[in-house]
Amino acid sequence: QAEDGYRLWLRYDQVDGRDVRSGYRSALRAVVFQTTAGEDTPVIASARAELTRGLGGLIDRDPTVHIVAGELRPELGADGYALKAVTVDGERAVRITGNSDAGVLYGTFALLRKMQLGESLDELDETSVPKIARRLMNHWDNLNRFVERGYAGFSLWEWAYLPEVISPRYEDYARALASTGINGTVINNVNANALILTPEYLAKVAALADVFRQWGIRLYLTSRFSAPMEIGGLETADPLDPAVQAWWDAKVAEIYTYVPDFGGFLVKANSEGQPGPHDFGRDHADGANMLAAPLAAEGRDGIVMWRAFVYAFEDDTDRVKQAYNQFVPLDGKFLDNVIVQIKNGPLDFMPREAFSPLFGAMPHTRLMAELQITQEYLGGSVQLAYLGPMWEEVLTQDTYAQGEGSTIGRVVDGTLKGHPLSAIAGVANTGTDRNWTGHPLAQSNWYAYGRLAWDHELTAHQIAEEWTALTFDAEEDAANEIVEILMGSRETVVNYSMPLGLHHIMERGHHYGPGPWVMGGRSDWTSPYYHQANEIGVGADRGQFGSKAINQYALELRQQWGNLDTVPDNLLLWFHHVPWDYEMKSGRPLWDELALRYQQGVDEVHAMQARWDDLQGKIDDERWDATRQRMALQEKDAREWRDACLLYFQQFSQRPLPEGVEPAE
Ligand code: GCU
Repeated sequence: QAEDGYRLWLRYDQVDGRDVRSGYRSALRAVVFQTTAGEDTPVIASARAELTRGLGGLIDRDPTVHIVAGELRPELGADGYALKAVTVDGERAVRITGNSDAGVLYGTFALLRKMQLGESLDELDETSVPKIARRLMNHWDNLNRFVERGYAGFSLWEWAYLPEVISPRYEDYARALASTGINGTVINNVNANALILTPEYLAKVAALADVFRQWGIRLYLTSRFSAPMEIGGLETADPLDPAVQAWWDAKVAEIYTYVPDFGGFLVKANSEGQPGPHDFGRDHADGANMLAAPLAAEGRDGIVMWRAFVYAFEDDTDRVKQAYNQFVPLDGKFLDNVIVQIKNGPLDFMPREAFSPLFGAMPHTRLMAELQITQEYLGGSVQLAYLGPMWEEVLTQDTYAQGEGSTIGRVVDGTLKGHPLSAIAGVANTGTDRNWTGHPLAQSNWYAYGRLAWDHELTAHQIAEEWTALTFDAEEDAANEIVEILMGSRETVVNYSMPLGLHHIMERGHHYGPGPWVMGGRSDWTSPYYHQANEIGVGADRGQFGSKAINQYALELRQQWGNLDTVPDNLLLWFHHVPWDYEMKSGRPLWDELALRYQQGVDEVHAMQARWDDLQGKIDDERWDATRQRMALQEKDAREWRDACLLYFQQFSQRPLPEGVEPAE
């Protein structure tokens, strides 16, 4: 049973029902792999191996595979695929077409997925093309195998044993990524260690890249801005110093000798104490362009993902405004192979926040989204929070940058501005835990991210259904129940931790439990920096009489969010400081509404526990029980959030708890 967790959504157990099996068997006498080259490459070999594994499990069949060359199909782009029922030598077969071998690999996984889901292959005729070109994982893994904000064990990369010892897990990891269409991975932490750029480590990195490449995955690294000083013996890392540029040129050339298809660098600079171009009086564009130049030289197609998660604690500008202030003046100054990587929100990965205004503000710059799969602010791998609904909310959010319909999805896939380079990143929730993600249901977040990276127009609900069907052997009723539990779970976390637009009131450091009272240290950690509670009310005033952060958004949003009558409840305290007795849309005073939301969060956890209890015996005991135990801890956590926050805010509101809210014990 332990295998159930390890295999993720790639289970390939025999399909139920004789008829379905025999239907699949007769539809799949053979499989044709068609690419423009028609060559048997390592990626094609992976596709064939997956097909053998999948069909062997699902229908006990080892198919004949024909590899053929075909015309270029422009509509499939670089990575898209077509699946079609065809006849080969009088026998029924399925043809998987891609312009590239990667397209065939993705088509193979899609075919197997269809069968796992029990879909018919008769008259099969469909195509799928990813909307985003570079679909990446970001690992915040340190070289000592500690994973920053990782809640599922240690880093998967066994640095001490590489390059000689290749853990079989590397391939299982790569398969899991490829199965959803992910084609790149940044293997080390954004808080970077320059050592990874030394020959000793590059040899290890190369060994990982060799495994990943066979599954269509390119490897990327984070580069520490001060590396020329730390490992290069230079006295400066000034991006405009020719010796520094020469050092990076040589370093990049060296990396390509180890990893010929190296994808490029991800850089966190001048943020949270990391080195960067500001240390030398230069700007982000100077820094990014210096690294980007050699990545585009000599026919290379490497890129720089320059992070916009920048702020300085010493700066007393509202933290949510700082990235915009630093980056917007640089619009148009970045080289073509630089893409600015923006977290979905302007603060950090809150359970809910307004979107980062940068998405609507840099028309001449390539922009990508960074989503967080690991649940840093949503209860680690203890609490259940299916993040599909949050990402759907983000990707469908309208920036109004070019009028209505300028969604973040369209900014990120490049269609809004016609930028050819598009990318998306998800901060991984994986580790050495046997089931990869700690919480058995947190695998759904890894899966959902991959599916959305391929097609950001899929709905969270669709993906939850798909994942559940692939992951559990459950009857329809039980599967629907799991989907419903997943779908409500993120809002439940919002309710018991930071409802109505409250944000960043968690305990400092670990970010797990409540800490609205945090004091001292840095300016943005001095209470009440984020919630602004006082005897009048609560919430951050970001309007015209406050920090004016709202001016960083399009007029449509400024009007909607800036007005107390039209701002949605879920962003109310993000944008406004609201009196405790303010009458909410529900007719209740704010204080009562807030208290009831906290209570609602706790009630929802109770309801979720009851629903989960009913699933006993309807899925495997192991994953059922592991989830049940975590829900018990989550219940305790939810009460702690409610009690701590209400007791704290009550000092200011000086009002009694409304009826229906349980007082703290
Ligand atoms: C958050 C997180 C850090 C991380 C940082 C980043 O602040 O707590 O651990 O390094 O984001 O994204 O750079």
